[in-house]
Amino acid sequence: MYTLVLNGSMRRGGDTDALVAAFARGVEGECETVRACEAGIAPCQDCRWCWEKRGCRVRDGMQEVYEKMARADCVVIASPLYFSQLTGPLLTLGSRLQCAYTAKSFRGERFFAEERLGAVLLAGGGDGGPEPAEKTAKTLLRCMRAKWVGTAASLKTNRLPAARDRAALDAAEALGRRAAQECGRR
Ligand SMILES: Cc1cc2nc3c(=O)[nH]c(=O)nc-3n(C[C@H](O)[C@H](O)[C@H](O)COP(=O)(O)O)c2cc1C
Repeated sequence: MYTLVLNGSMRRGGDTDALVAAFARGVEGECETVRACEAGIAPCQDCRWCWEKRGCRVRDGMQEVYEKMARADCVVIASPLYFSQLTGPLLTLGSRLQCAYTAKSFRGERFFAEERLGAVLLAGGGDGGPEPAEKTAKTLLRCMRAKWVGTAASLKTNRLPAARDRAALDAAEALGRRAAQECGRR
């Protein structure tokens, strides 16, 4: 099982990373993280090249990420809440899934040949709800043909860092196990 984590956190060893580590304990096989802010990915320019042609004209770090997405059995969207949303770098990466949307909606083609599983991990300090971020994450998972299996969150990190939020860590690990089980059934 190959799991690809798209991580929106700027903080190495921060709250999101603690949830990702717990999730990784639950899954089997390889678990690779792409940290959006370090991946050299430009935002979608809406150049509309992908309205007619397969893939994205912009040649940057995203080309490698498309390949990783295509071979992933499970994709995890992991992010801190920034104004109740996924972080800017993760939204930038997500904007490059426009070519998957246009392939399907404009040409009736599949950008990703296979379906996969998807999960969401969110960390928040305690202000504002996670709903907008979760909704966006689910939209991105659909673009990757990933079936959402669940969300785990640590939402009071200002007072209780995710690394000490036992309930959230257990939920993230259980989510990883569920993804592994579902993957085994496929
Ligand atoms: C610019 C900015 C905006 C934030 N907005 C929210 C928010 O809307 N809701 C919330 O609960 N926490 C918010 N936070 C707090 C982070 O989500 C929280 O500290 C999180 O645990 C950080 O995760 P990380 O250690 O993986 O970066 C914000 C933090 C920053 C820097």
